[in-house]
Amino acid sequence: MANQNPILLSFSLLLLMMMMTSNVVVLVSSKSTIEPCSNSDSCNALLGYTLYTELKVSEVASLFQVDPIAVLTANAIDISYPDVENHILPARLFLKIPINCSCVDGIRKSVSTRYKTRPSDTLSSIADSVYAGLVSSDQIREANSISDPSVLDIGQTLTVPLPCTCFNGTDNSLPAIYLSYVVRPVDSLAAIAARYWTTITDLMNVNAMGSTSIKDGDILAVPLPACASNFPRYASDFSLIVPNGSYAITASHCVQCSCGPGNLKLYCMPASLAVSCSSMQCKNSNLMVGNYTAQQSSAGCNVTSCNYGGFVNGSIVTTLSTSLQPRCPGAQQFPPLIAPPTSVIRDSMFAPSPAPQSDGLRTLAPRSSLVPSTTGSLPGLAPVGGPLGSASDACSLVNSLATFPIASLLFFFFKFVFAIL
Ligand SMILES: *[C@@H]1O[C@H](CO)[C@@H](O)[C@H](O)[C@H]1NC(C)=O
Ligand SMILES: *[C@@H]1O[C@H](CO)[C@@H](O)[C@H](O)[C@H]1NC(C)=O
Ligand SMILES: *[C@@H]1O[C@H](CO)[C@@H](O)[C@H](O)[C@H]1NC(C)=O
Ligand SMILES: *[C@@H]1O[C@H](CO)[C@@H](O)[C@H](O)[C@H]1NC(C)=O
Ligand SMILES: *[C@@H]1O[C@H](CO)[C@@H](O)[C@H](O)[C@H]1NC(C)=O
Ligand SMILES: *[C@@H]1O[C@H](CO)[C@@H](O)[C@H](O)[C@H]1NC(C)=O
Repeated sequence: MANQNPILLSFSLLLLMMMMTSNVVVLVSSKSTIEPCSNSDSCNALLGYTLYTELKVSEVASLFQVDPIAVLTANAIDISYPDVENHILPARLFLKIPINCSCVDGIRKSVSTRYKTRPSDTLSSIADSVYAGLVSSDQIREANSISDPSVLDIGQTLTVPLPCTCFNGTDNSLPAIYLSYVVRPVDSLAAIAARYWTTITDLMNVNAMGSTSIKDGDILAVPLPACASNFPRYASDFSLIVPNGSYAITASHCVQCSCGPGNLKLYCMPASLAVSCSSMQCKNSNLMVGNYTAQQSSAGCNVTSCNYGGFVNGSIVTTLSTSLQPRCPGAQQFPPLIAPPTSVIRDSMFAPSPAPQSDGLRTLAPRSSLVPSTTGSLPGLAPVGGPLGSASDACSLVNSLATFPIASLLFFFFKFVFAIL
C-alpha cells in the first residue's frame, strides 16, 4: 500500500465512517470474504466441510445437493470401491465439497442448497452443526424470510446460502479454485497457508486482511492451485477446473479428469464407472480420449494426442492434436487415490503439523475490531494482479443486509476514484 495518497485516504476514512454508522449492530465479528460480481456467470468452487456426525457418502452429497461421485473425486477417494456411495464416513472428517458458485444480488454465493428440517432442528443447529459453520442462522433466516425462528415446521424446505468465491479462476495469474474454509479455534493463518501450499501473504491479499489475526468461525477464501480446462463456452462443463492432487468427473460420469502432481495440466480419460458412453475415439485416428503417441525424431518428439474437449449437447467432444516437443513425455502421473476413510486420524485431518508460531503479531492485534475489515480490505486497494476481495460480517442479519450493497458500492466507488486520480 505504498502508493496511498491523502485524497484516497480521506475517501477511505469517509467510507469507513459510513460503514460504521450504517452497521448498527457490530457486536458479532465473524468475517467472511465477499466477492462483488456483476455478471451471471458461475464457476466451480469448494466448501471445506467437517462432518458433524457419521454420514454416508450419499448423505453428505444430498446435504449439498451435489453428485456423490463428484464429492469422492474432489477428495481423491477411490470410486472403484464396491458400493462406495453407501460407505459410511466418520464424524469430524474434513471434506472438500465441489459446488457451483453463482452471482446473486451482486455478490458471489451458492444458492442451490436446500435443507428439509427435521424434529429438534433449530436454525443454529442447522447452521453451526449440520452445515458446520459455513452459514449463520441469520443468513438462513434472511434467505428464507423467517420472521420467528423459534417456530420451524418439521419438513419445511429451507434455502441454505453458502459462501464461495471465483476471483476469475486465478490467483497471481495462475489457475486456482477457491475453498471456503471455516476457521477453527486451533487454526493460525500460518498453519492454513502451510496446509494448502500457499503463503500467508497470498491468503492476506485474497481475503483483503489487514493483519494475520483470524477468529474461530471466520470464513476464508483459500486459493488452491488448479488445472484449468479450455472447453468452448457452449460446453456444459465450460470452466471445469480441478485442484492439484484431485479428480473431477464430467460428461455424465463418462470422463474423469485429474490434476497433477507435477505439471498442473488437466488430463482427461474415460472414467472407470460402468456407464454407457458415446464413443471417445478421435476422428481419423485409432486413439481414444487420453491416449497419445510419441515419436522421437531428429527435430524432437512428435506427440499426437487425443484430448477431451468438453461435453456439448450430451456428446463428448474429442480433439486430435499434434505437436513437436523438445522431449517425449513420460508416463502420465496421477494424483494418489485414497481408500474411503473409516476413521479420522487424531486431528491429522484438522491440524496437520504444528504451525510455526506467529502469535507475536496476533496478540498485538485487537481480538475483534469494530469495523469488520480494516483499510487494507477495501477492494480497490488490493494489490495489482491479486484478486479483489472485501471482508464483511457474516453473522448478523443487520450487518449482512447492510454490508453487501456497501461492498459493491465500495468496489465501484474505488474504481471511480482510481479512474479520476
Ligand atoms: C451453475 O449455476 C448456474 C446459475 O444458477 C447455472 O446456469 C449453471 O448451469 C450451473 N452449472 C452447473 C455446472 O451446475
Ligand atoms: C481472467 O482470467 C483470464 C485467464 O484465465 C485472463 O485472461 C483475464 O485477463 C482475467 N481477467 C481479469 C479481470 O483478471
Ligand atoms: C501439487 O501437489 C503435490 C502433492 O500432491 C505437490 O508436491 C506440489 O507441490 C503441488 N503443486 C503446487 C503448484 O502446489
Ligand atoms: C487408450 O486409452 C484406453 C482407455 O483409457 C486404454 O484402455 C488403452 O490402453 C489406451 N491405448 C493406448 C495405445 O494407450
Ligand atoms: C507427427 O506425426 C503425425 C502422425 O503420426 C504425422 O502426420 C506428422 O507428419 C508428424 N510430424 C512430424 C513433424 O514428424
Ligand atoms: C445443440 O443442440 C441444439 C438443438 O439440438 C442446436 O440448436 C445447437 O446448435 C447445438 N449446439 C451445438 C454447440 O452443437
